[in-house]
Amino acid sequence: MQIKIAPSILSADFSAMAEGIKLAETSGADLIHCDVMDGSFVEPITFGGQMIKNIRPLTKLPLDCHLMVEHPKTQVKFFADAGADFITVHFKACNKISPTYLKETLELIKSCNVGCGAVVNPDVPVENIYDVFPICDMVVLMSVYPGYGGQKFIPEVLEKVVKARAYAKKIGRPDMDIEIDGGVTEANAAAIREAGANILVAGSAFYRSPDPVKTLAALKK
Ligand code: DX5
Ligand code: ZN
Repeated sequence: MQIKIAPSILSADFSAMAEGIKLAETSGADLIHCDVMDGSFVEPITFGGQMIKNIRPLTKLPLDCHLMVEHPKTQVKFFADAGADFITVHFKACNKISPTYLKETLELIKSCNVGCGAVVNPDVPVENIYDVFPICDMVVLMSVYPGYGGQKFIPEVLEKVVKARAYAKKIGRPDMDIEIDGGVTEANAAAIREAGANILVAGSAFYRSPDPVKTLAALKK
């Protein structure tokens, strides 16, 4: 399976975002990961749909919008209109509203012709989202608790990656995108790829690297 690297602009310089996007593109990135935080589902606030609208014309790479927000359904239209290629929403944010909210949100994203995905935190069993696997374009397994870049990778998540890939195969979707988000480094990338993830998010590993081209190639190898 083709391995894709998604630099997270959370670790880029917000005052020079255009350069951060260009750096990802010229270094061989496959997607741009956009961490949207609302100050409630997670403590920090980052940016919203306006940022996506502004960076959309700067790159042809798919914009992978990771919504760490309460009530994600209310945000779908803004991000779809802004030019998102993927919108992913948290099981935890959805499930506290109702048992059907996640499915409804994913269907709403799909109806906007945008790729959809469900995200689980490190402490949430991947089995909790098996029912929505058939409608997901992407499944995201958090390997840190959401909210901050630069945290340490939680290795226990690798077992969940193996389970997720096996379940994707079982339902006839062997090539489904499985993304790992948080703490990805050159040291753990091989184990992540071997477990079955094919999209690796890299925030600090990429933007703080002295040689981003080399780092990106090493993550992908
Ligand atoms: C965490 C974010 C991640 C984060 C990754 O809440 O969802 O995408 O930016 O950053 P690193 O790669 O530094 O852990
Ligand atoms: Zn993220």
